[in-house]
This record gives sequence, C-alpha cells and structure tokens, in this order.
Amino acid sequence: MSESSLKRFSVSMEDKLLNKFDELVTLKGYENRSEAVRDLIREAILEQSYDDNEQMIAGSILLFYDHHQRNLLEEMTEIQHEKHGLILATTHFHLDHGNCLELIVVQGRVKDVRELSYKLTSLKGVNYGKFTVAPVEKV
Ligand code: NI
Repeated sequence: MSESSLKRFSVSMEDKLLNKFDELVTLKGYENRSEAVRDLIREAILEQSYDDNEQMIAGSILLFYDHHQRNLLEEMTEIQHEKHGLILATTHFHLDHGNCLELIVVQGRVKDVRELSYKLTSLKGVNYGKFTVAPVEKV
C-alpha cells in the first residue's frame, strides 16, 4: 500500500475506551493505531459479507469434543461424508484420554459451509466450535 493512496480521518472517543484500545494495539503487536483500525474495519466488512450466501469462501471449522460421547464420532463422520465436496482436509488430534480436537479445512459457498459448521458444532458432546472464514476474493 503506497502512502499516497492513504486517506486520513479522525475519530473521537472517551479516554477510557482509547486506553483500552491502546492496550489492545500493544497486545496484538500492531505498529500503530491505524494498522489496528484497518484490521478491525476489514474484519467488520468481512463479517457483513457473510450475508452474501453465494460468496465463495475458504476457512476452517475447529471442534473440541468429548471422545466418550455416545454416537458422536459416527455422527461426525457421517456428516463429513455427506458434505465431502466442501471439505479439503480433516486433521484429528487426540488431546488426552477423553478430549479430541478436530480441524476441518473447508471451501465452498458461504451458506453451504456455514450449514456444515452449524451441524457439527451443535452435536452433543462438542464443547467448543469455532468457524473462521476468509473470502476467496480479497477484501
Ligand atoms: Ni481423538
């Protein structure tokens, strides 16, 4: 990004909020506030673009689950076979005796991938599920 293409604007906010924001900027290792604001704006635009259900995206579904939950592994495998066209890769980690972490890398239309994510994360025994996406077209 060349300096000449940058536009400036000013933002007003309370001291308290700005202090919190500066802490975040430091914590996340941004060089300055502008960089952090740009990232936040990109994220917000990205989130909003999820409404476009036909958009092609790539992303991941992260699942933490209880290995001992009855029928969970079978259900999870069945769902993934049904939607195999959306799944690029699945990696399974046995965290300890009872807990598993599964990372599913996906690609497809937003609505299809989101539906797959909801199906998996809502299964009984899934303790935590996180769906992250990025548009194939750059924002
Ligand atoms: Ni396991």
